[in-house]
Order: sequence, then C-alpha cells, then structure tokens
Amino acid sequence: MCYKVRVKILFVSSEIVPFASSGGLGDVCAALPKALSRKGINIIKIMPLYGCIDREKYFIEPTGIELNISFSNSTYLVKIYSQTYENITTYFIQSDVFFNRENLYVDEYGDYDDNFERFLLFQKAIVGLIDFLNLSIDIVHCNDWQSSLIPIFLKYGTQGKLRVCNEKTLLTIHNLAHQGVFDSKKFYLMQLPLSCFSDKILEFYGNINCFKGGIIEADAVNTVSPSYAKEILLEKYGNSLDGVLNNRSDNIYGILNGVDYERWSPNSDSYIDCNFSINDLSGKLKCKKELQSLLNLEHKENVPLISMVSRLTSQKGLDLLFESFDELMKKDIQIIFLGTGEQWYEDQIRDLEHRWPEKVVAKIEFSSSLAHKFFAGSDIFLMPSTFEPCGQSQIFSMRYGTIPIAYNTGGLSDTIIDYPRKGSTGFLFETFNTFSFLDKINYSLDVYNQKINWTKLIKRAMKCNFSVDQMALEYINLYKKIISN
Ligand code: GLC
Repeated sequence: MCYKVRVKILFVSSEIVPFASSGGLGDVCAALPKALSRKGINIIKIMPLYGCIDREKYFIEPTGIELNISFSNSTYLVKIYSQTYENITTYFIQSDVFFNRENLYVDEYGDYDDNFERFLLFQKAIVGLIDFLNLSIDIVHCNDWQSSLIPIFLKYGTQGKLRVCNEKTLLTIHNLAHQGVFDSKKFYLMQLPLSCFSDKILEFYGNINCFKGGIIEADAVNTVSPSYAKEILLEKYGNSLDGVLNNRSDNIYGILNGVDYERWSPNSDSYIDCNFSINDLSGKLKCKKELQSLLNLEHKENVPLISMVSRLTSQKGLDLLFESFDELMKKDIQIIFLGTGEQWYEDQIRDLEHRWPEKVVAKIEFSSSLAHKFFAGSDIFLMPSTFEPCGQSQIFSMRYGTIPIAYNTGGLSDTIIDYPRKGSTGFLFETFNTFSFLDKINYSLDVYNQKINWTKLIKRAMKCNFSVDQMALEYINLYKKIISN
C-alpha cells in the first residue's frame, strides 16, 4: 500500500458525526469537512476509535499501521484504522488501554480519571502519524482542548526531540468552559522542554491548561460565532483566559457555524408526522397535534406549546427557567423538555412534571427522532443559555417555524433578530434575570395571539439560511490567510 498522499488540511476532533458525538461539536466537525471537500479542499479527518463506534456499520478497517507512542517511561501501542466516504478519508486512533470504552469522556462517576493521558496519546499519535506517513499538510485544524496540544507537539516533538514543523495550525474554540486543566505532576508525560511549563505557554495557576497552550501556540484561533469571538475577550466570558486571548486578539476570528439542512428541513424530514413548507404551514399544525398526543397532552390548537431541547447543564440557563417557573405556570401554556445531562437538572425537571402534570412533559432521553418532532410541533423554543458559542437548536427551530426566545449572547445574538426589529425571527432578552426573561415570554405570548403577525414571524424565521457553504467559504479564506502569513 502506498501511504504517500498529498494532503492539505488535517482536521482533528475528539468527536465527529456519525461515528461518535456528544453534541454540537460532533455535528459541526462532520458538516464542515464535508462542505470544504465539496469546495475542492483536500481534507483528511482524524478522531479516536472509541469502543462505542460501530466499525462494521461504517466499514472502518485497520490500515496495518502501528505506532509506539511514548509517555516518558512507558510506551503504548496505537493502531491506525481508516474509512473513506464521499471521497473523505477518516483516520481513527485505536488504543486498547485508552479508547476501548463505551463513552467519550465520562463514566457514571464523572470525567474519566485518565482524560489527560487519553488525549495526550491521541495527539502524540497524530503527530506520529503525520511523520510516519510523511504527510505534506498545509494546516492542521484542531478543535477544542482535546486537540489543542498539537500545535505544541508539532514544534517541540512528541518524544523529547525537537521536530521540524512545516505545518501551520488553526485552533477552533467551540466552548471555552472546558479547557483541559490537569495536575502539573503529569507534565513529564508530555516530554516537552521544561520551558513549555511556563506561564507563557501551558502553566495555569500551577496546573497544566491544554487550551491555554494551544491558544498561545496555534498560528490562528477562531470561535464559532463573531459575537462569541468578541465576548471571550471580556472577563465575564473569558473563563480566566481572557488575558491570554487578549494577547492574541489580532489573530482571533469568529466564523458562524452552518447547519446541515439536508438533515434539518421540514419539507423533507422523515421523522416528523407531516411535512410542511413556508408556502403551506398546515402540516405544522398536524405536527403539533401529533406531538401533543404522543406526550399525552391535551390537544389545544391555540395554546402555545413551548419546548426546550437541550443538554441539561448550567450553561443552558435552566436555573433561570426554574426560578421563573411558578410565574410561567400561571399562564395558559404547555411546556415540554427533551434531553439528558447532569443528574440534578434531570431531577428538577422531573419534579416540574410531577407538579404540573397537565402542562409539563419531560422526556429525559437522547432521541433524534423526538428532537425533530419537538422542533416541528412546537410554537416557541426556549434557549436561555448563559453563554452560547454558536448553538444549533435555535437554528433548527427557526427552520421549522418554531420561534426562539433566547438570551442576547454569543451565537444567539448572531442568528436571531429580535422582534419587532426589521426582519425579526425571534425574541432576545437583554438582561439575565427572571424579570427580563419573563417579560420577553409575556411579550412573545402577546404576539402569538396576533395571528397575522405571528405567521409572518414564522415565515421570516423559516427563511433564515445559516448554510454550511457560507461557513466553508469563510474557513477557506482563513486557511489562505494563515498559509500566506
Ligand atoms: C459547543 C457549543 C455550541 C456550539 C457547538 C459547535 O457545543 O456549546 O454553542 O454550537 O460547540 O460549535
């Protein structure tokens, strides 16, 4: 087999749909390479081969390449697998010790204890593979902290010897809340020069901070919306890295995520009960009726059905919702939840369902088919995230004519135009408190009762187009800029 391939972009992520994903990261890391490849970019993807990935279903085969990856005084065997679909090859890093597990990052007790070692192995193996295959790469595109050490290993080598670095690097921040912070005692496993453990690179309040190292060492950094790119420079959103980010502010870009409308369009969606389009919204009413029946809610055509489809974590603004809930329940509405997450939030939501069984239904599960039904059948979509790098659900909901109510932050500000501004597509509340949140909900319920205005709003929301093509074009421009610098 000939391994000498000419590659332009090596796209690295800890999750890629359909192989394995825990949320928006996995979706974008599938959609972007696909769109780039359609635009003629030569791209290879690479991710870990988790135990939960169905090798047979996706025709994932061993390449025969085996690498010994050193962690100072121990060595681990890594096997490289691959598959090719629609002209894009994905490589998989297999390790019995670190990746042959059901979940990506956590077990029932929380984060795996060895997440540092797991993603250290992943990244060292990637640099090892580049060298083994003698890949000629223009840019290694890294995503989030799980691949943010690559810019450092490309320069300093993985085995304690400097490496000639011919590659440029881009680091995309999908979520700054997770930074990969670990005990400095583990630094020796990296086999980097001691100078890398300085506050100028990896050191962070006495620990190792993987994201910080990548933000400093990558040739360019971007986030997934223009507003979040500005917000992370502020103390409020910088998660203690605002200083580091400000030092790089000339090289921080914001590129809005696109979504794959081939999977998310009400006129072709096979999960929903009745297809519909801007020109004929009658199917949306049928979807609402079916959804109410499915959830054992009384069928009330003119009562607003409000939904939330979300990971149940503090980021998603659930505390604000809980604080507002008694007030909300005084109104003639129905509220439905779909998602899983932290135990405490799951319990709280179940409790709301017990307290108001006629008005509240909670589906504490992860289900694609239910998600599509929720987006299609609801009238209003709640997304009061405290911060949101981009967010996808508000984009899906708009496509299905379900009007979002969100906090004016990050990607939510960049995708939703507040009613009644020109071209409005949803509602944005300005201050993160119950007063401002409830005020916006009340306002939206007033507009809901003005049928002509509401229908116009639905149609404008459905017309929004946050396409992967636009996203791909902006990444291509950024790649060109990085290469020419
Ligand atoms: C993370 C962010 C989300 C973003 C997604 C994809 O999950 O929280 O806002 O849409 O990454 O970039």
